[in-house]
Amino acid sequence: MTTTKHGFEIRGLDVPRGAAPPTGRFGRMFPTLPARPATGLPLAERLGLPGGLMDGGDTTTQQDSPTLDAGFTFLGQFIDHNITFDATGNLGRQVDPEATTNFRPPMLDLDHLYGSGPFASPLLYDTRWHNTKLLVSPDGVDLARTAGGVALISDPRNDENLLLNQVHLAFIKFHNRVVDALMSGEITDVFGNRFPPPPADSNPNPPANASIADLLSVRTYWDDLFAAAQQVVRWHYQWITVHEYLPLVCGQDSVDSIDRDGLQFFDPAGNPFIPVEFAVAAFRFMHPTIRSDYTINDKHTLPLFPLNFDDPAPEDPHDRADLRGGAVAPEFALDFRHFFTIDGSRPQRAKRIEAKLNVRLLDLPPITDVPAEIGRQLRSLVVRNLLRSEVQQLPSGQDISRKIGQAPLTEAELGISGPAYLWYYILKEAELRHRGGRLGSVGALIVSEVLIGLLDADPISYRSTYPIWTPTLADGEGRFGMAELLRFAGVVAD
Ligand code: HEM
Repeated sequence: MTTTKHGFEIRGLDVPRGAAPPTGRFGRMFPTLPARPATGLPLAERLGLPGGLMDGGDTTTQQDSPTLDAGFTFLGQFIDHNITFDATGNLGRQVDPEATTNFRPPMLDLDHLYGSGPFASPLLYDTRWHNTKLLVSPDGVDLARTAGGVALISDPRNDENLLLNQVHLAFIKFHNRVVDALMSGEITDVFGNRFPPPPADSNPNPPANASIADLLSVRTYWDDLFAAAQQVVRWHYQWITVHEYLPLVCGQDSVDSIDRDGLQFFDPAGNPFIPVEFAVAAFRFMHPTIRSDYTINDKHTLPLFPLNFDDPAPEDPHDRADLRGGAVAPEFALDFRHFFTIDGSRPQRAKRIEAKLNVRLLDLPPITDVPAEIGRQLRSLVVRNLLRSEVQQLPSGQDISRKIGQAPLTEAELGISGPAYLWYYILKEAELRHRGGRLGSVGALIVSEVLIGLLDADPISYRSTYPIWTPTLADGEGRFGMAELLRFAGVVAD
């Protein structure tokens, strides 16, 4: 397991300019466009420090998204961690100090849930179920943890905040429930085939009448069961990404145009990679959707972070006062009806997508290993995002807009002069063109092309293997989204 935090030290992010095909995990989507001319710290500070142009204060209901339920923010973070997680981690780094090669390709394959599978990541799995199920805490409301409190998950970033912890836990429970349902014959595999019940005799010794082929086979019933369950879980997750998440955040038209005309600007060409325009700008569009406080269940509404980071996180999880990561006590378990529309529930909304972030994100936990002169500035997520895009020499929003055939936003609309940071531009597009409910042309194109492109470049995704597949767990009306997943996982009460 790595100790990488969300957004910190991503391996291989330093991508050279130019039109050469990428050799690592990251590359460029618009390699021929020039870099936006650097403006340095002053503009980043003017926009990003508390009290600056992008300070949205504490979240109010007037800032609610017109369309997006709050839970989709954390589904987005879960998707982000899936594709920015590199299971080769530290080992790869030793053999590849420049971190340009030796990467696992980024795919929507839930490697942050499964690690490298039961054989190579056995600590994640439950031996009582022949390692077909993933571990959860004994009371079922938290991730499994070591005696020292470290979450037993493949990507430690998924324990960074309580909301993401609970989304990860819900996916574990979905997987475990799929295992049960396959074994009992309640559901089929992705192709509609029933899975046989477990062998009556779990004795590992082969029966006396076993054929030579049986004796040579190293696969067991439990291996096949795990593989079938993993495929059910992955394909349903990929379906939600394409059929629920992307239509909500990019618009159905973006997905339809890719199905009709193919990818226009993202060309993974059999070598899936993440464009920096996506990782450093477009897919950070969910930062403004984060609220400063969340109602997590009928009893508790908590702030994202403490007002003062000098206050240590309480030792006892029953004393939790904010949504920082770490152990979860039962009274702080999420009621997902406050996060997704489930059976007519009226969940809190995400904050709208706009060029303003809630003020708590402008005052992140102190960073210890940076020079004092810049330490204060780097506690602002806005400053970090803007400087990161400058370091990565991203093109301006206006240049990408022209490239994709759209007249760019004007300076008056943008509220700043000159070529705009791509991230800022994308947020302004959403704010001005869609009332902050979804992305505009540039943002939607980058996000939908990359996520669908990664699925199409993955030889075992549902889109590559069986493009006309529809969810085998869909409800009576053919619907399968987060509400149906959570219900099947048994994490919402009837
Ligand atoms: C409590 C919530 C969150 C916090 C505190 C947070 C914080 C951060 C930080 C500090 C960075 C690194 C910035 C840099 O130095 O370049 C980052 C990167 C990033 N964030 Fe977030 N973030 C949150 C939620 C999200 C969500 C909901 C998304 C949704 C898609 C997201 C997407 C990204 C992406 C794509 C990156 C760059 C790649 C990566 O490291 O994952 N973040 N975030």
